[in-house]
Amino acid sequence: MNNAELIARDLNVVWHPCTQMKDTEAIPPVPIKRGEGVWLEDFDGNRYIDAVSSWWVNIFGHANPAINDRIKTQLDTLEHVMLAGFSHEPAVELAERLVDLTPAGLTRAFYADNGSAAVEVALKMSFHYWRNTGHGEKTRFINLSNSYHGETLGALAVGDVDLYKKTYEPLLLKPLTARSPDCYEREPGMSWEAHSRAVFADMEALLAEHAHETCAVIVEPLLQCAGHMRMYHPVYLELLREACDRYGVHLIADEIAVGFGRTGTLFACEQAGAHGISPDFMCLSKGLTAGYLPLSITMTTDDIYAAFYDDYANLTAFLHSHSYTGNPLACAAALATLDEFERRDQIAVNRGLAQHMADAVAPLADHPNVAEVRQTGMVLAIEMVADKTTKTPFDWRERRGIRVYRHALSQGALLRPLGDVIYFMPPYVITPEQIAHLGEVAAQGIERAVST
Ligand SMILES: Cc1ncc(COP(=O)(O)O)c(C=O)c1O
Repeated sequence: MNNAELIARDLNVVWHPCTQMKDTEAIPPVPIKRGEGVWLEDFDGNRYIDAVSSWWVNIFGHANPAINDRIKTQLDTLEHVMLAGFSHEPAVELAERLVDLTPAGLTRAFYADNGSAAVEVALKMSFHYWRNTGHGEKTRFINLSNSYHGETLGALAVGDVDLYKKTYEPLLLKPLTARSPDCYEREPGMSWEAHSRAVFADMEALLAEHAHETCAVIVEPLLQCAGHMRMYHPVYLELLREACDRYGVHLIADEIAVGFGRTGTLFACEQAGAHGISPDFMCLSKGLTAGYLPLSITMTTDDIYAAFYDDYANLTAFLHSHSYTGNPLACAAALATLDEFERRDQIAVNRGLAQHMADAVAPLADHPNVAEVRQTGMVLAIEMVADKTTKTPFDWRERRGIRVYRHALSQGALLRPLGDVIYFMPPYVITPEQIAHLGEVAAQGIERAVST
């Protein structure tokens, strides 16, 4: 088998996600034969550094021996059993460990099998909590502009990225949208903190007017990933937690992309205030299994749990389910992932890696077509623009980011952009040398992308 053969077979039968399939005439999918550490290798022997962790899921590299072993052992023991009426050790141990690791007060783990499903669970549970406690009038959700929470209809409804949402608008719930605290939008000279604090006024006003009909506010803590890697200051989360308490509205922290060390702490919510904040729901997926198997968890509190706990005939139970809920193989992968965090003291190691990422792209900050280089922990983004002073974007139809992508592939790096934003979100097993290489590839790619 070589690249050409597999591509031909693929294009005959596969419909790829998030892809205009006509694009494959010019940019065919890269057929991957094997992976090891940060590397992906195609059928012709070309190797690519997975600089975006295969859509932000991979944490400890491809074919990680410790995670492989744990899954293999689990495979020989129990591959799957339904979680309704049954239980298994990996699901129990994982829930126990996450209760310890996530912010205080999150004491219950509800399993599903992908990020969007975890968001659906949080939305339904919040609404249902209010209904069970005599507040059926609460039917709405507040989200942030530029947010992304997945693509099933409920999750899509509480997102705000037109590219994915607009077409389906007639099918969707209508959230109330507060302005994002995104610091790219700040006035020149203003600090991240001052900007995020000032923008909170918009959220405060929405809560003041709509709290009586609102179930929950949903946010991506610190970092709006699919919304072009836009970042904000933790003060916003602190203000939001306080306001949600004051107005009697739940707070849903969607840490699907930012959890498991991406922002510099195990969970982004830890960075808010002196001691972090505890949301009422925390959605986890992606890095949960280090990119091995689909799994998600919605963590919640005793208070929420208690509102569903009653005699069956009162019909207050949360009857949501998916066939693969809490799959044992996926839970085993997640347990091995948590072990790797401990064994490698990964959060401390990441501080060094994050500095290498900053150093690798520092010169780009002065580039005339780079409006901003921004970073939160292990996520670094470079925003390409037509005009630096006015931050005027390139015409989106020119698809400059794709030019960087193609150049990077030719140089052995997978740098899939978000529009004209190039970003690094690598597995944590990346080395300083590999990071330096990514910096060079990104600089060359941007030079090419803006020069024609
Ligand atoms: C913040 C956030 N929430 C939810 C999702 C949806 O997760 P999934 O793609 O597993 O459905 C994503 C996926 O990128 C995400 O970034």
